[in-house]
Amino acid sequence: MQNAEKVQNCARVLQSKLPRGFRPEIGLILGTGLGGIVEAVDDRVCIPYGGLPDFPVSGAPSHEGRFVAGRMSGVPVLVQQGRCHLYEGRSAAEVAAGVRVTALCGAGSLIVANAAGALHPRFESGTLMLIDDHINCTGASPLTGPDVGSGDGPRFPDMSRPYDPEYIRLAEDTALRLALRLEKGVYVGVAGPQLETRAETRMYRMLGGDAVGMSTVVEVIAAVQAGLRVLGFSCLTNRNLPDCMAPVAVEEIIAVAETVGADLRALLCALLPRLR
Ligand code: HPA
Repeated sequence: MQNAEKVQNCARVLQSKLPRGFRPEIGLILGTGLGGIVEAVDDRVCIPYGGLPDFPVSGAPSHEGRFVAGRMSGVPVLVQQGRCHLYEGRSAAEVAAGVRVTALCGAGSLIVANAAGALHPRFESGTLMLIDDHINCTGASPLTGPDVGSGDGPRFPDMSRPYDPEYIRLAEDTALRLALRLEKGVYVGVAGPQLETRAETRMYRMLGGDAVGMSTVVEVIAAVQAGLRVLGFSCLTNRNLPDCMAPVAVEEIIAVAETVGADLRALLCALLPRLR
């Protein structure tokens, strides 16, 4: 999934499998432990990634690997239930393919959700964090390569406000109304798949990070280039504190994400109609 033609072909095939006249308003990417949120999507139509030409299929644990189209609180959504990652050996262009396909299907907004480790010393595991900004420490960008004028968007997209300020305000207001705890901070994206050393954790905190994870930044870069309004959430599944670092297992990360996912689902159901 390298070039615009392949992405366009993929979008065409996906659209042919969607209900007639269905046009998503919002794309949603559900990462580790969060796939259960699709149960809040009414009139679901599931399209496995494997049925789309050249679309990268994820082998990561707890990543279902399909698009789910339907309505969430009445809003037409196109969900990626599971994503692929750089640590699976995928290129940044492949990681971003789902976002580009979603944009071609007509969505004007994207909500990304991931599991992440908390770097901020006062952020607790089991809570939600709104992504205010990010630091791309993956070393990769979905925009590298020859400038072939493929219509993806600007060659040098502005990244001064990748996460939509109005969406952030609405998300905070909705969380308040629901009495849900919602932290806000900077997400550091790393390539993984190994978790961080104590020294790396200290460095990411010194750089200004509040949470660290292995996804999202590449997809958000592609979304900004495509002109989508972006909102992001991290489910803080563990605490990454350099001076009292506890070992963490992926099973634990998935289990905590599933629990925080219930809060995220409630928040999304109340928030989505306000994003129109
Ligand atoms: N580091 C990187 N990725 C993660 C973590 C972490 O501590 N927790 C969940 N995803």
